Amino acid sequence: MDQLRFDGRVAVVTGAGGGLGKEYALLLASRGAKVVVNDLGGARDGLGKSNFADAVVKEIKDKGGVAVADYNSVVEGEKLIKTALDNFGRIDILINNAGILRDKSFQKMSEQDWDLIHAVHLKGAFKTTQAAWETFKKQKYGRVIMTSSNAGLIGNFGQANYSAAKMGLVGLANTLAIEGAKYDIKVNTIVPTAASRLTEDILPPEMFQAMKPELIAPVVAYMVHESFPDTGVIIDSTLGFASKAHLVRSSGAPLRKKHTDPVTIESVKEKWAEAVNMEKAKHFDKMADVTIDLVSSLQEFEDRSKLDSVRESYWKTY
Ligand code: NAI
Repeated sequence: MDQLRFDGRVAVVTGAGGGLGKEYALLLASRGAKVVVNDLGGARDGLGKSNFADAVVKEIKDKGGVAVADYNSVVEGEKLIKTALDNFGRIDILINNAGILRDKSFQKMSEQDWDLIHAVHLKGAFKTTQAAWETFKKQKYGRVIMTSSNAGLIGNFGQANYSAAKMGLVGLANTLAIEGAKYDIKVNTIVPTAASRLTEDILPPEMFQAMKPELIAPVVAYMVHESFPDTGVIIDSTLGFASKAHLVRSSGAPLRKKHTDPVTIESVKEKWAEAVNMEKAKHFDKMADVTIDLVSSLQEFEDRSKLDSVRESYWKTY
């Protein structure tokens, strides 16, 4: 297969001073992309500031690549995008990767721990992506990555703030994938598991050694390549393995016999096991399809013409 390259493309990688972001930046630069290496350079809990993006820029330049450092916080996303436009005149790829942790059991979690996590992960991704969006639309091209976590998709003790923000990023990606579709703006989510300063005291030592961020970087690089086919997908990757995650919904159950019958707490209880049975679970790519599916499962909408009018009004709205 021909080498997949990024010549002429400009990428902004947030939080690229270390960990996963550094590997993304190095790989993209080695394949011809001009890279903005953004990193605030703070501690794991978000405190402080330093210039450790410089070392990554130096490494890229020493290998003959093109990169510039940016020390802004993602919360000021417009500044990062300006760095790309001022230095390289364009932006094609945005990898929202910056992250911090403020783990606490829920009862002990302060409002500040909640707000800071949301500011860096969720608002940071909103700010950087919105700042790049106009350019992406004008040039009819853009590749965006959101970084989620199994702590969000599944949940993890002591990470209520982080889990909520990480799941918020999935929702953000879902909608941006729809809004960007006609401009060839693809928005996808990576769920990584890798050795980094965020996981050094979480992963067992032998797993920590094996879970190299370099094994995830090619997955993310393919996801921001012009040939990448999908948008709105969630990809779980670690240890040289990739899989797709998707929310699914059970086929459900009617909670009453006729639409003139009332729904009672007792009728809900009676039908509960059937309503939550996942054996015939379905997955949906469009909100309209969820609604159509729900409506069509009701007997009174067996008349297809009514269904078609529901579908039509949905297409007008979205
Ligand atoms: P890391 O701590 O090595 O990298 C995160 C980088 O983001 C740091 O260099 C940090 O200085 C930077 N950063 C923090 N706040 C910033 C801000 N406001 N503006 C700009 N830069 C900022 O950690 P790692 O593991 O490489 O994490 C990368 C991303 O992957 C994070 O979003 C993290 O939540 C996510 N993730 C990592 C997992 C893992 O197993 N390592 C698991 C699931 C998600």
